[in-house]
Amino acid sequence: MHSEENAAAPNALAPVSGAGAGLQDHSTRDAVSPVAGTIAGLLALVFAVGVGAMLWTMNPSFGDGRAGGSANQMAAPVAAGAPPEPGSPAAAGATIIAGQACIGCHTIPGIPGATGQVGPNLAGVAGRPKIAGGAVDNTGPDDLKRWILNPPAVKPGTAMPNLGLTDDQATNIVAYLETLK
Ligand code: HEC
Repeated sequence: MHSEENAAAPNALAPVSGAGAGLQDHSTRDAVSPVAGTIAGLLALVFAVGVGAMLWTMNPSFGDGRAGGSANQMAAPVAAGAPPEPGSPAAAGATIIAGQACIGCHTIPGIPGATGQVGPNLAGVAGRPKIAGGAVDNTGPDDLKRWILNPPAVKPGTAMPNLGLTDDQATNIVAYLETLK
């Protein structure tokens, strides 16, 4: 009796006589039913969209409508203000900047020849609450000075090199940058 039952049990792997090769019922050996697969696919899609939306909202560039640190690409140029008072620290700073590598990398209002495109346009830099792509706070001259004295120390991996400025040079340069509101 038992052996007869075993013999009659359907063998899912055995070809079904009379059926074409692709027409067999695979349901007994499918690991996942097509419905479960569809649900898993839809859940993965919802998850991916959710993560995308989260990353979008976390990116500060989309918050203020411009990519931080890329004013030359994203924001309207700000006109240079009045030239600094002759003999002032800002005037000394302008002279130092004009002789430094800054001008090869930055566009800087009021500095002849400062038309670089490697770094951000420094127009309005003193008015930015964050610099270096949003990575560095800019609450005043001290923050700007710390940055230009040694950018990689403030933001590891930044493309702006340490230019070996003296403390005096940095103070004067920042005095000029602070005129770029
Ligand atoms: C080799 C190119 C290069 C040179 C030279 C250079 N910079 Fe930069 N600078 C950059 C880059 C690139 C950034 C953006 C850094 C980042 O986002 O990590 C930057 C960022 C800055 C910022 C922050 C601006 C912002 O809105 O994010 C200031 C200020 C600045 N540089 C001033 C200077 C001054 C002043 C000099 C000269 C003493 C100078 N840089 C020389 C490439 C340069």
